[in-house]
Amino acid sequence: MSTPSILSDRINSLSESATLKMTKLGRELAAKGVNVISLSVGEPDFNTPEHVKQAAKQALDDNYTRYSPVPGYPELRKAIVDKLKNENGLDYDASQIVVSTGAKQSLSNAILTLINPGDEVIIPTPYWVSYSEMVTLAEGKSVFINTTIDSDFKITPEELEAVITPKSKLFMFSSPCNPTGSVYTKAELEGLVRVFEKYPNIYIISDEIYEHINFIGQHESIAQFDSIKDRVILINGFSKAFAMTGWRLGYLAATKEIALANDKLQGQTTSGTCSIAQRAGIAALDQGLETVLEMKAAFARRRELVYNLLKDIPGVKTNLPQGAFYFFPDISSFFGKMDPQGNVIKDSADLALYLLNEGHVATVGGDSFGNNNYIRLSYAASDENLREALRRIKEALAKLA
Ligand SMILES: Cc1ncc(COP(=O)(O)O)c(C=O)c1O
Repeated sequence: MSTPSILSDRINSLSESATLKMTKLGRELAAKGVNVISLSVGEPDFNTPEHVKQAAKQALDDNYTRYSPVPGYPELRKAIVDKLKNENGLDYDASQIVVSTGAKQSLSNAILTLINPGDEVIIPTPYWVSYSEMVTLAEGKSVFINTTIDSDFKITPEELEAVITPKSKLFMFSSPCNPTGSVYTKAELEGLVRVFEKYPNIYIISDEIYEHINFIGQHESIAQFDSIKDRVILINGFSKAFAMTGWRLGYLAATKEIALANDKLQGQTTSGTCSIAQRAGIAALDQGLETVLEMKAAFARRRELVYNLLKDIPGVKTNLPQGAFYFFPDISSFFGKMDPQGNVIKDSADLALYLLNEGHVATVGGDSFGNNNYIRLSYAASDENLREALRRIKEALAKLA
């Protein structure tokens, strides 16, 4: 008889983050002396800007070392309000902003504050790995809308309306999207808004963490539409825009009622995020977008590079992503093929593992983003590493028979 698990059903039903898992496997291989190129991690390969680091040092000297208010320092909330106004044309009051330990916490908190057991959360696939797991933790039910590379991984208003039921409570998406890099235009968002206008009980989580890495124009937030703005929970953070992934700083903007609920939840779990990170965040926002634009220029160049190299690999089908720093090519033509050791590649996870072990390139299988026919490649790596990684991938794929 097997021993019952001491762990809760809640944790037993949770999957490990695939992106973090692949990164861990890559690091383990590297620790054995193998030259692994990591394209698995969703992290800018730039350092945090100097003025932001200086602000953190100053914060220490100024003794910003005590508990901060749970929803963040008033100066930071005000800086976020100004950012939303100046960059996005959105009006919020500081009381509507809740600072957190990252967009990830804000997403999770927003779901926990809105979802009752059995409520449905509509998520277009592919989606960021943690979305559906966060819904599971909140005892909600994820309802997926599948998209493919042929529609640039974007949903239509008709597809949205088709999955709405009386239990639909939330819709959540990212634009620019991780893992596909797809970006919804204003007209496309407007099409979705017309549907939401008909269903006043549905709330919208808009994950805008990649807003500055957009190659097709200015960022468009779904919160700009007044008819539904009160139902939008806008999520953003400092990780991608300011290369601050390790600082753990993000925020949400929503109605006062939802913001207060998130404040309450944070007050009983993590409290206010790191005081020093918050002071650094104020400096990041004050300084504006100069360093972000430099990063974007580098990403634009690498996007072209990877696009041309990927197109050159037989059996791989790719599009040209419009934002973020990922490619999500279709690799399903390799399913059923055999590697040199005689193992059959059954799915995207097998292929990602094969590329790691044979080509020493870490990627992530699309299954963990809800679409098994693809793999995700991050191009937040040097041009040299990208060239070498794509060479290795091409070589490894050619060995599958
Ligand atoms: C779509 C998306 N949302 C949220 C996050 C989390 O960001 P943060 O570092 O602010 O928690 C990520 C990080 O990879 C992401 O890709």
